[in-house]
Amino acid sequence: MKITTLLAGVAAGALMVSLAACSSGGSGGSTDSAGGGDGGLIGVAMPTKSSERWIQDGDAVKSQLEDAGYTVDLQYAEDDIPTQVSQIENMITKGAKALIIASIDGTTLTSVLQEAADNDIPVIAYDRLIRDTENVDYYASFDNYKVGVQQANSVLNGLGLVDLEGKATDGAPAGPFNIELFAGSPDDNNATFFWEGAIDTLQPYIDKGTLVVKSGQTDFEQAATLRWDGETAQKRMENLLTSSYSDGSKVNAVLSPYDGISRGIISALTDAGYTVGAEWPIISGQDAELDSVKAIESGEQFATIFKDTRNLAKVAVDMATALLQGNEPETNNTTDYDNGVKVVPSYLLESQIVVKDNIEDVLVKSGYWTEDEIKG
Ligand code: GAL
Repeated sequence: MKITTLLAGVAAGALMVSLAACSSGGSGGSTDSAGGGDGGLIGVAMPTKSSERWIQDGDAVKSQLEDAGYTVDLQYAEDDIPTQVSQIENMITKGAKALIIASIDGTTLTSVLQEAADNDIPVIAYDRLIRDTENVDYYASFDNYKVGVQQANSVLNGLGLVDLEGKATDGAPAGPFNIELFAGSPDDNNATFFWEGAIDTLQPYIDKGTLVVKSGQTDFEQAATLRWDGETAQKRMENLLTSSYSDGSKVNAVLSPYDGISRGIISALTDAGYTVGAEWPIISGQDAELDSVKAIESGEQFATIFKDTRNLAKVAVDMATALLQGNEPETNNTTDYDNGVKVVPSYLLESQIVVKDNIEDVLVKSGYWTEDEIKG
């Protein structure tokens, strides 16, 4: 009798808690919303939903913060800078206790972050460094230079020149191989880190003549892709094919810094008559987005770089909770990320190259994607 009453009480309590959680959400933001406990509100600003990775990041940060007892205001700005600024203003107005921000343009948040500082709200830059302000407290990201090295090594590996660690292979082909180079968005601090890591790795092969950038477009400015946009990349690839490969020569490799850009490059190649299995180029990527993992399975893309968004979320959530509890967040890099005003203390995670052979080991076994999602 007593146990039954107790169980009924527990069940009713659980129901009330879940109803309370449901009704606490929703106000204010344009897309996602709130929920969770009473540890206070944390604002999470993400750049766009048009890229799957940021959805994974947003979901992971939100659920981990809620598990830690916070209420979360999660917003996506569809890559529109004024929208992101007003979302952050709104979070400050709503009384956010901390902000976790993946910026669209890392140089445009100076005045809204002054408002945050005036309200004593700590700010964590998420994956992308926020520049030109002293009002960013910590940075959670990956070793972005190393990501660029891995992207270049994945291309060199696809061409048979090195192993996945970048060690030269015995009896490597002499080439020459035609390569074209793509970079990320010039307003994203990460883009130059990826580029520098990749170019430092490719340059010796370019100097030896093993790799030839047939278009001659070897400057970051020429290779950059505003907003990491796939269509912009597709158009540039179409132009490169027309201007530099209409003599019957083939492009053998394309350095791409992000899966969405790789998908644009793949469309341009397909439209130009390239087919997988017949002189199809080696193409790199980043983020292990599902469509691109499928493209690796089918041979359209050679590799991607896996950055586990669940771990990145954990670093950012740990930083926020440490700050709110008056503790110092853990960092492992206090030298590399100068935002123009100060060096932002950072925690950098490790990334991994994914090729067809290790999809199962790296992505499926870790539960990032299921076999069914990849094959489906
Ligand atoms: C970068 C990020 C990459 C990729 C890219 C496009 O800032 O580090 O992993 O997601 O944005 O979204």
